[in-house]
Amino acid sequence: MSNQKAEFSEAEIAVHWREEPLISPPPQFIGQANLTDPAIFERMSLEHFPECYREYADLLTWYKYWEKTLDTSHPPFWKWFVGGELNACYNCVDRHLPGYRNKTAIHFVPEPENELIQHITYQELWVRVNEFAALLRDFCGLKKGDRVTLHLPMTAELPITMLACARLGVIHSQVFSGFSGQACGERIADSQSHVLITMDAYYRAGKLLDHKKQADIAVEKATQEKAPPGKVLVWQRYPGRYSAETPPVKGRDFIVNELLPKYRGQRVEPERVQATDLLFLMYTSGSTGRPKGCAHSTGGYLAYVAGTSKYIQDIHPEDVYWCMADIGWITGHSYIVYGPLALAASSVVYEGIPTHPDAGRPWRIAEELGVNIFHTSPTAIRALRRAGEDVPSKYHHHFKHMTTVGEPIEPEVWRWYYNVVGKKEAVIVDTWWQTENGGFLCSTVPALKPMKPGSAGPGVPGIHPVIYDDDGKEIPAGTGKAGNICIRNPWPGFMQTIWGDDERLVKQYFARYCKDKNSKDWRDWPYFAGDGAMQSSDGYIRILGRIDDVINVAGHRLGTKEIESAALTVPEVAEAAVVPIPDEVKGRVPDLYVSLKPGVTGDGALAQRISQAIETQISPVARPRRVWIVPDMPKTRSGKIMRRVLAALSTGGDPGDITTLANPEVVEKIRTQVAQR
Ligand code: PRX
Repeated sequence: MSNQKAEFSEAEIAVHWREEPLISPPPQFIGQANLTDPAIFERMSLEHFPECYREYADLLTWYKYWEKTLDTSHPPFWKWFVGGELNACYNCVDRHLPGYRNKTAIHFVPEPENELIQHITYQELWVRVNEFAALLRDFCGLKKGDRVTLHLPMTAELPITMLACARLGVIHSQVFSGFSGQACGERIADSQSHVLITMDAYYRAGKLLDHKKQADIAVEKATQEKAPPGKVLVWQRYPGRYSAETPPVKGRDFIVNELLPKYRGQRVEPERVQATDLLFLMYTSGSTGRPKGCAHSTGGYLAYVAGTSKYIQDIHPEDVYWCMADIGWITGHSYIVYGPLALAASSVVYEGIPTHPDAGRPWRIAEELGVNIFHTSPTAIRALRRAGEDVPSKYHHHFKHMTTVGEPIEPEVWRWYYNVVGKKEAVIVDTWWQTENGGFLCSTVPALKPMKPGSAGPGVPGIHPVIYDDDGKEIPAGTGKAGNICIRNPWPGFMQTIWGDDERLVKQYFARYCKDKNSKDWRDWPYFAGDGAMQSSDGYIRILGRIDDVINVAGHRLGTKEIESAALTVPEVAEAAVVPIPDEVKGRVPDLYVSLKPGVTGDGALAQRISQAIETQISPVARPRRVWIVPDMPKTRSGKIMRRVLAALSTGGDPGDITTLANPEVVEKIRTQVAQR
């Protein structure tokens, strides 16, 4: 969506909580913080843009220093640190060896509690990454610029694989392991990946899932789309033992753990890549049907995540840092793998769900590993709170810093996080950003600005947000009016393009508020984020939710169009419409309305089949709360489905004026149907 207002959006059903008082960061946090100098805001003001971003890039080790900090010659395809050469793997692993060889880089925590935690030192990480990189190069023939799709669960093999790719300059595209084989196959085809890397099995909620099964579906789907990957590499969850029921396919599938001994002791020189060369693709949902591959650069991205990890996450090398997101999402790429490892921290990778076997699990992990920075989503916080309000109080963990990300957090949930999880000792940052952005856009700088429950805060240093109304006029702070949040300036973490679709980048994020499309001045190209927001008089920003056809379910970003098109693959379905519904734990859940083809009648079994189609084609996370089989969709006279009306019916709200509909009588019928459930 770029030019018109969505008929119905998350932002329209946003919660409107009152202004909350400010809370000061704990003095013991300030005493040790990386960033306590208020001059940062001046240093990173627009006046010093873009050179101010040298401060972030200087956190990295460059083979060759860049010649131009920002090249704006081809708007809005901004190029950062042009001429600079580096390697992301070198920056996250090799350069730490002299100082931190025997320090843990990754703590891998298996879901079964009786399995030992693996502590992988920087030295071991370096060895494992080198050997696997040698395998990728020599056995798969991979080289700089090739794409590889990863469908890996949350095990240490995931960051090892990403770093091995980065070492070779190979572009990785990790698909969330909870996504279906079909969704993975589409992404293999879109990225034209040469290889699929997966794992035989992994634990989720107490069950060892057969994950290899998904790889077969993925290859089948990619083959249908005429882009089969040449090879499938399968890591074993238990090295030496194959744990999936689905067998390997001869000649196509290769067990990594069987091949690796041949590469023992091999070392691979890190590839020198340009700052602007791609490090990875991360697919995300947009307002059109197919997910888009956000293509992230090496230099700009790594500089941005290193800078924000240091200043906003306050990561020091001696910290034990646990981000409970999945590496299959951008949060995990930026703030489990690349940011923390660039700073030589110890980063926790936890395989399972937070409430397994009970809601005390995260706090036992934190106690055991001495985690002092904790990062999670409002959905996880709500779920843990629901499973036991006083559980965290029974444990002896101590956090200095906690993060929330991915959805708006209700002040009441925020307070539980602060009081009970953080024991009033930890500072909280509420970080707002998106897959496209690489790293944080809005958040408080933890030692410098007070916290405000429910507000992300102002732009982070170097980010200058603005809220526009539909006509492109600035909505001043403190007016209590909501609008569309945009960022005035480019920043190094922003993606280079959408893989294979430059035009979509321009259309989706810049066309809406571009002041002059012939201009080469970045000031004419504000970034349109697609979220509704409002700004209070102190400059703190409250994010209200998506204004487009994207729905944020438990922090998972899904396109309503993707869910609708999955429903439409069921032959009986004539039309489908998804609306976001507020949910106590997940923030939002999709409700699905379908009408059937003439002569077909629907029942529970059909609804079940429709739900199943969505699970198979996308993921269980996209499963609708309810499938409503309705006699007809409420439509305008021009035939557009009125999702606003459906959403109101789902929530028991007022559908507003329906007299202009082509079929107003259907509204009452649907209302009765919904009320009966
Ligand atoms: O609607 C905003 C919401 O998540 C969307 C981005 O989703 P995704 O690309 O999957 O990235 C999620 C993690 C970076 C945004 O458009 N969102 C993200 N963070 C917040 C948020 N909403 C409110 N508060 C946040 N802190």
